[in-house]
Amino acid sequence: MRTQVAIIGGGPSGLLLSQLLHRKGIDTVVLERKTRDYVLGRIRAGVLETGFVDLMREAGVAERMDAECIIHDGTVIAFGEKQFRIDFREATGESVVIYGQTELTRDLYDAREAVGGKIVFNVEDVVIHGADTDAPHLTYSVDGAEKRIDCEFVAGCDGFHGVSRQTIPLNVRREYEKVYPFGWLGLLSDTPPVHEELIYSNSERGFALCSQRSWTRSRYYIQCSLSDHVEDWTDQMFWNELRRRLPQDVAERLVTGKSIEKSIAPLRSFVTEPMRWGRLFLCGDAAHIVPPTGAKGLNTAASDIHYLYHGLLQYYEEGDSEGIDRYSEKALARIWKAERFSWSTTNLLHRFPDQNGFDLKMQKADIDFLRENREAQSVFAQNYVGLPF
Ligand code: APR
Ligand code: PHB
Repeated sequence: MRTQVAIIGGGPSGLLLSQLLHRKGIDTVVLERKTRDYVLGRIRAGVLETGFVDLMREAGVAERMDAECIIHDGTVIAFGEKQFRIDFREATGESVVIYGQTELTRDLYDAREAVGGKIVFNVEDVVIHGADTDAPHLTYSVDGAEKRIDCEFVAGCDGFHGVSRQTIPLNVRREYEKVYPFGWLGLLSDTPPVHEELIYSNSERGFALCSQRSWTRSRYYIQCSLSDHVEDWTDQMFWNELRRRLPQDVAERLVTGKSIEKSIAPLRSFVTEPMRWGRLFLCGDAAHIVPPTGAKGLNTAASDIHYLYHGLLQYYEEGDSEGIDRYSEKALARIWKAERFSWSTTNLLHRFPDQNGFDLKMQKADIDFLRENREAQSVFAQNYVGLPF
């Protein structure tokens, strides 16, 4: 088989890039390790920056999102019983779009399949050959049969545990990591959200987040110990702890119900540099991970896809390699700012095991300043809605 851009990974990054390139007549093949249903079974965040929404529109995959999404002009931050709202629209003129990653990925799959996009599921043993040459190729197997794809470029969209990042030699790669001493226990329920916008809460018992997928489906998180196991938490235990971490007026109006999904995720910050090696380009979780506090996971994937898509367009339409040559530099410049925002909001809103009295006073002073200072709220809002590409 031969294609112009071979894409490893059928998650949001790989599918969005494939659909965008298809719309410009650039041929791609997506290799996905799992099945479509398995990929769609992953429960992930759903806060989209306007830049992501614009990309979905350019990809021609925004119809259902536009019809079903919820627009948020701000968010609420609580510190104990004190709450305040940060008004994104007043500070930036922008909002964020609430639309679940599962639905967004489903829309991308539907769009690819509607035009006969080439997606190979259940692939195994993907190996990238000659990434540092002008004629890379992939080998892989499916149903026990060995396969080969010759291509002009490889997009490594295969997530944190994929093969792409590992293909870049250790003497070329530089990795930066911070692991946080707690996790997030998340619960999905078919109950009405407790508030029309998100509520991020820093309580003496730890962090909590009230989010949503629709007006009838809610997503909640509480900070938990890394030694916790999801089977240790009954639904009732979760709801009771969540209530303890919310301001009283919020806790009193919380509607609880049976969990559809419940899981624990660890928190880490991680970045690989460079994000390009020869004709291999890393995108999304293959190159970087953020703690979910700043809702940047999906949005940093879209950030990379924006730069790689435009770089490949410049190459194929104008014969100019400037965009792909500067891909790593441009993508990382925006990624590091998203990493900083995600790291700073995680430090602002969580209780750390080793925090002493002074540390707590610093955290309180940070939140008090954010509550009282319009410029500080504007900085938060600019980062939350998404910095310019
Ligand atoms: N071969 C083929 N496919 C692979 C391989 C491999 N060796 N390794 C991983 N994959 C697939 C995974 O099965 C997954 O479907 O690559 C896809 C990577 O998707 P994601 O992990 O979702 O990463 P990305 O597309 O960059 O999207 C980032 O997803 O994990 C969330 O919080 C993250 O919201 C962010 C978004
Ligand atoms: C979610 O809805 O899953 C979500 C929202 C905002 C975050 C993290 C997760 O910061």
